[in-house]
Amino acid sequence: MTPTRSLLDIDDLTNDEIDSVFALAREFAQRPAPRSLDGTFCANLFFEQSTRTHVSFQCAQMRLGANVINLSPAQLSLATKGERLDDTAVTLRALGVDILVARHPLAGAVAELGAAFEGCTINAGDGTNAHPTQALLDTFTLRDLLGELRGRAVAFVGDIRHSRVAHSSMRLLHRYGARVLAIGPECFLDRGDIPKEVELARDFDAALPTIDALVMLRVQRERFEKMPIDDAAYISAYRLDLKRLALLGARAPILHPGPYNRGVEIVDAVTLDARWRYREQVRNGVLVRTALLHRLVRGW
Ligand code: NCD
Repeated sequence: MTPTRSLLDIDDLTNDEIDSVFALAREFAQRPAPRSLDGTFCANLFFEQSTRTHVSFQCAQMRLGANVINLSPAQLSLATKGERLDDTAVTLRALGVDILVARHPLAGAVAELGAAFEGCTINAGDGTNAHPTQALLDTFTLRDLLGELRGRAVAFVGDIRHSRVAHSSMRLLHRYGARVLAIGPECFLDRGDIPKEVELARDFDAALPTIDALVMLRVQRERFEKMPIDDAAYISAYRLDLKRLALLGARAPILHPGPYNRGVEIVDAVTLDARWRYREQVRNGVLVRTALLHRLVRGW
């Protein structure tokens, strides 16, 4: 029953495995999921605030009948008693935890936890590095809305540099044949972190009429010291406003991993636009995570 496969990065899964997760997620939209995690123990350990990802994993685990332990890092021995991260993971495993879902502000910290845990570890976001289940739900949502992704242009807009969502989702969308663009000011586009197949663009307005789907990103201020561009300059070039909504194709979906900051990367009107598909994204997140957990425990 105890699964041993982990998901630290999106490249840990093959396209066939992802297709099978997507097919199952589609089934779970129509019928209740089986109690395939009955008797297993899942621990959710989030060293960073989270609304969507944490609750989404918890809903998925509960749908599958798992026992769910939500850990608050401030109450753990590592907070004040000097216990190391890896020793915490060893302890959780010895306590009988089968699946560890973890988020940490440092890139690589979830892999470190996973190496010590020696069970199934799922990365719910580590620093600016990776967020593989967000890549799954973004790709699932875009396939659902656009059909075949091959040749379709998907643009990520904003603070790409600090976005683990962009880093993981861009890679997966490229694997599915999409033409991926990263749009933002130079200070947020770091070629080193962006796969070479992704096209970089500065001019949002020029790109808008040519793209099939938009993924708007938050400026992730907690991941850097000082805003590298003037707020007003950023907003004037990259905020999705009414003028830019008019340049976007009538059927092009707008996604956002959340949390979205009204007035910064989007204006209020975006949330009322028929192309704004944020709610589907969140709903799909639960379906995809339910399907993933089922596959990790029951196999492919
Ligand atoms: C993101 C995250 O925390 O990586 N949100 C999410 O998990 N859905 C994006 C963000 O922080 O802006």
